[in-house]
Order: sequence, then C-alpha cells, then structure tokens
Amino acid sequence: MAASNWDQRYREGSDRWELGRPAPPLQAFLRTDSRAPQPPGRVLVPGCGRGHEAALLADLGYEVIGLDFSSEAIQRAQVLHGSDRAGLRWLQADLFDEAALEAAGISAASLQGVLEHTCFCAIDPAQREAYLDTARRLLAPGGWLLGLFWCHQRPDGPPWGSAPALLAQQLAAAGFRQELWEPAQGSAPERDHEWLGLWRR
Ligand SMILES: C[S@@+](CC[C@H](N)C(=O)[O-])C[C@H]1O[C@@H](n2cnc3c(N)ncnc32)[C@H](O)[C@@H]1O
Repeated sequence: MAASNWDQRYREGSDRWELGRPAPPLQAFLRTDSRAPQPPGRVLVPGCGRGHEAALLADLGYEVIGLDFSSEAIQRAQVLHGSDRAGLRWLQADLFDEAALEAAGISAASLQGVLEHTCFCAIDPAQREAYLDTARRLLAPGGWLLGLFWCHQRPDGPPWGSAPALLAQQLAAAGFRQELWEPAQGSAPERDHEWLGLWRR
C-alpha cells in the first residue's frame, strides 16, 4: 500500500491498528526481561506510526530513529512525543529507499537494533525478504532485531499474518541467529496470535 493510502487512513481516523501505547508484550520484555537487549545503541523503528515504541526505547536510553513514509504518521508522532527530544528523531522515508536512508545517516552496519511492530504485517508479503535484508544490512555485527509479529492465519491483509515456523526459516535464511521465538504474553485484547522474537545479526 502506498504512503498516500496510509496518510488517508490516519486522516480519516480509520487507523484501527492504533493501541495508544507501546505494545504490552514489547514493553514488558524491554523493561523487565533479563534476555532483553540493553542500551545504549542506535535503534531504528520502521513503520513507527504514532511512535509509541520509539518513545519507549528513547525512555530506556537508546538513540532512536522512528521511521515512517506517511507524513501524517510522523506529524502525529511529533505531536505526541516531541519533535525535539534528546535521543529521539523522526524520519519520513520509505524503508526500502536505500538512498534516503543513507542521506539520513542510516547506512550499512550503523545500527545496534531494529524494533519491529506491525510494519512487517503492513507491507506486501512479497516485500518481506527485502525487509529482512534491509534490517540485516543496517545492523552492525551482533546487532539485534526485536519484533512482535502478528501470526494470525487469516488469508487477507493488511495486516498480513505469518506462520511462525515459516517466519523463523525466513529469518534464518536472511542471516539472523534466533535467540527467542515464542507466543507473546499479555497481548492487547484486540491482537490474537502474536509472537515475540529476538534475533542477532
Ligand atoms: C499498521 S501501521 C503500524 C504503525 C505502528 N507500528 C503501530 O503499531 O502503531 C503500519 C505503518 O507502517 C508504515 N509503512 C508501511 N510501509 C512502509 C514503508 N515501506 N516504509 C516506511 N513506513 C511504512 C505505514 O505508513 C504505517 O504507519
């Protein structure tokens, strides 16, 4: 779906994915789980929407880039979480536009972390390999990909579902080493079949 379609959804208020807070399983994992990656580090949140996870990471002490190709999303994130806050910046760009990322200083091996929440299920499934290749390219060796993945089995989308076993294979094929991949705990009531995963480059 094009950026303009996402803009329209934000404008119409038909952005039914909005939780109004960081996804509970990600928040609990990052704040309390001994297996969670630790700051400092430079972290990208692709498809950040209103930026709740980006702001959470900044609160935890990371240097965060919230990226979204929807200008409406970025404007809402700025209003909610500030446009001039230390450790948190917003970037309106397409995740797959390598030149735009490079121009913003997001180049190969320049990140310690990527946090995924409902961007992977929003893009066309045909772009998933490109998403994983991009994340791997941008991460420094040892860098992490933490994600909450929507593993519903409904045939249509967005949000497009994932099969847990297949997703684990796709990540391995993209060069990621799995540290954690399990059904998420404490998902928001409107979210079924979420899985939480942590991988290293
Ligand atoms: C379902 S929304 C989720 C937003 C946010 N992650 C959340 O959970 O509230 C998906 C977001 O991904 C953004 N997006 C989709 N494809 C993108 C791309 N190729 N590059 C950057 N952002 C993208 C959309 O504009 C939208 O804001």
